[in-house]
Amino acid sequence: MTIKTIYIPAGGGFDSVTVETSQPADPAPGEITVRLRASSLNFHDYMVVKGLTGPQERRIPMSDGAGEVIAVGEGAEEFAVGDHVVSTFFPDWLDGEAQVEGFGRVPGDGIDGYAREQVTAPATAFTRAPRGWSHAEAATLTTAGLTAWRALFFDGGLKPGHVVLVQGTGGVSVFALQLAKLAGARVIATSSSDDKLERLRALGADELINYREDPEWGMTARRLTDGRGVDIVLDVGGPDTLAQSMLAARVGGHVALIGVLSGVEARLQVALALGRQLRLQALIVGSRCHQQEMVRALEASRLRPVIDSHFALEDIVAAFRHQESGRHFGKIVLDI
Ligand SMILES: NC(=O)c1ccc[n+]([C@@H]2O[C@H](COP(=O)([O-])OP(=O)(O)OC[C@H]3O[C@@H](n4cnc5c(N)ncnc54)[C@H](OP(=O)(O)O)[C@@H]3O)[C@@H](O)[C@H]2O)c1
Repeated sequence: MTIKTIYIPAGGGFDSVTVETSQPADPAPGEITVRLRASSLNFHDYMVVKGLTGPQERRIPMSDGAGEVIAVGEGAEEFAVGDHVVSTFFPDWLDGEAQVEGFGRVPGDGIDGYAREQVTAPATAFTRAPRGWSHAEAATLTTAGLTAWRALFFDGGLKPGHVVLVQGTGGVSVFALQLAKLAGARVIATSSSDDKLERLRALGADELINYREDPEWGMTARRLTDGRGVDIVLDVGGPDTLAQSMLAARVGGHVALIGVLSGVEARLQVALALGRQLRLQALIVGSRCHQQEMVRALEASRLRPVIDSHFALEDIVAAFRHQESGRHFGKIVLDI
């Protein structure tokens, strides 16, 4: 038996993506074997596969993977054959404070990822998937879902009645809107597209701003809170959005530094940050424990992720070109 597997060479690049085969492996003690059924695209995967940030060596891409356990190694009793599981972003960060720097141990970047039909890995590289969710739905959680979860509930301390601002209609932001509404927050959502804004409204967004038409959207958001400011801002834009994100935030407000959609170097308005006593918290996704907490919460809710489109595993480049076009709303899934 061989396993259909996607590879990218060192340095990446869409033209260099190949569909090959790899050999299956039996689980060693502490490992499980998973028949992967779905992955989902993130901006980070896009940067790796496109060749904007590596990889350093030949690599199987994709950080997100969901599927079914088909073999359990000795001592990996947390799982049984047939369990539905979803991968974790940091296989080595199980609990507690952030312990890892960068992406050296992240599947699909520093180590091989989940663009393949089957994987054998430590059981701790997976958690249970939410009961009743499809593999495609579960595959949206590893990166986008958990980042939104951690920024809102763990770092941001979200409470009912808080005002949350989300930017654009990518995977993280749409999840953040859904999770914030689940928790009883008021949500201000931005997009470059009026059509997408209407879709955000249908998902529960309370206030909508077109950030293309309104470059001072941070001040607009502030006015929408009667001048008090927003409790939690999820900044996914980076240099182009950080100043407006800080202007939107209330005194003592929380600005989650999540994204680099417009680049990696920004001018920081230090006086504004000090004057407002803002909490600027950079984060990379979260721990396995955060993911287990999120899965439990999702099982207690009716929330389902917004899936924009499905592509077959071998059409991975077409999927990334769709993401690159910016036409998507929510998550793009690879069916494996
Ligand atoms: N720190 C972390 O742990 C973490 C985790 C996941 C993602 N991220 C980062 O977060 C960002 C979003 O990731 P994603 O996977 O959700 O991306 P994505 O699904 O590709 O989302 C892209 C969307 O963001 C919006 N957008 C693009 N440029 C923007 C800008 N300058 N200002 C505001 N919105 C803009 C657009 O929405 P509209 O078409 O509606 O305008 C676009 O469709 C990326 O930079 C990614 O690297 C960080």
